[in-house]
Amino acid sequence: MPIPLSVPPCTSLVNSTPQRALRSIAHTARAAKALPFSLHRTSPTGDHEARVLRMVMFGKPGSGKGTLSSRLAKKYDVLSLSTGDLLRQHIAERTAVGQQAEGIVAQGGLVPDEIMLQVVSSKLDALRNRHWILDGFPRTLNQGKLLDTHLQAQNTPLSLVVNLDVADEVILSRISDRWVHLPSGRIYNMSYNRPKVDGLDDETGEPLAKRPDDNPEIFAHRLKQFHESTSPLISYYASKPKSARMVTLQGQTSDEIWPKLEAVVRSSFPNLRETAAARRQHSLSDTFRTGEDAWSAKV
Ligand code: AP5
Ligand code: MG
Repeated sequence: MPIPLSVPPCTSLVNSTPQRALRSIAHTARAAKALPFSLHRTSPTGDHEARVLRMVMFGKPGSGKGTLSSRLAKKYDVLSLSTGDLLRQHIAERTAVGQQAEGIVAQGGLVPDEIMLQVVSSKLDALRNRHWILDGFPRTLNQGKLLDTHLQAQNTPLSLVVNLDVADEVILSRISDRWVHLPSGRIYNMSYNRPKVDGLDDETGEPLAKRPDDNPEIFAHRLKQFHESTSPLISYYASKPKSARMVTLQGQTSDEIWPKLEAVVRSSFPNLRETAAARRQHSLSDTFRTGEDAWSAKV
């Protein structure tokens, strides 16, 4: 009997879950239209289901999960759901979930599995039959097993687990430079990816904030939590070679990891379409290149 992900007594809390944290949700309708028909069908054999990207982005705090998920969601018709962003939205909006999670998140602890399941389950159902990435979930062995059971019951199993392997020293040096736009989850870094105007979000002009859990003591606690509670998921996924493909990507920076990630995703999911914005950018650079070629030919 599959274990349901939703927790009925608290379902009302789910309804208050903010929508904005589902990054790229604006792509939803376009993504649904853009996908070939075969990707919308569920098959008892799971044949063509294998082509749907249902990915867990896994890694230490600060390893670049949010940065790389956003890049994928910006370039491809894929939705990215960050449980950290969702919790921060709940906290900002003073929902019941937010009030329960606030102290735990601020101290770098793990929010209890049953609350996380409430937060995620309603969103997962909205992601059905779309390409998606989960950033920050699962984060305990129990969450991993519940997620698998839920997805198997819907015949929509995970298809990719990406484990970002970045050294602790590299991560610690990045975190003090990180600024975030809380409503959208957009991430900036003063030494690597500065906003156009210091302190302001590029797209909305709204102020950026420091995450309260980004100070060195709390961050050390989050790393400890990762090693104690989250890292057992690596052997859990590695021990199931017949289910989702698991890849470990190493690198000092997200720029180093990005091409490797993109190669894995493109080779495993050739049907994944680029967003209209990414296609426009290609055609602009093609025009530019063609212009350049014509110009060099004249010279
Ligand atoms: P969450 O928000 O998920 O935090 P996290 O896992 O600790 O990870 P981060 O968001 O800090 O880092 P990231 O891997 O996304 O890295 P980023 O791309 O920002 O969770 C927060 C809290 O919520 C948890 O502590 C917990 O309390 C709770 N929670 C969430 N999910 C839960 C669950 N499932 N169960 C229980 N509790 C849960 O990158 C990091 C930095 O590196 C940035 O500054 C970035 O700009 C920078 N960077 C990226 N690329 C580069 C580069 N190429 N060069 C230099 N710097 C770079
Ligand atoms: Mg993040």
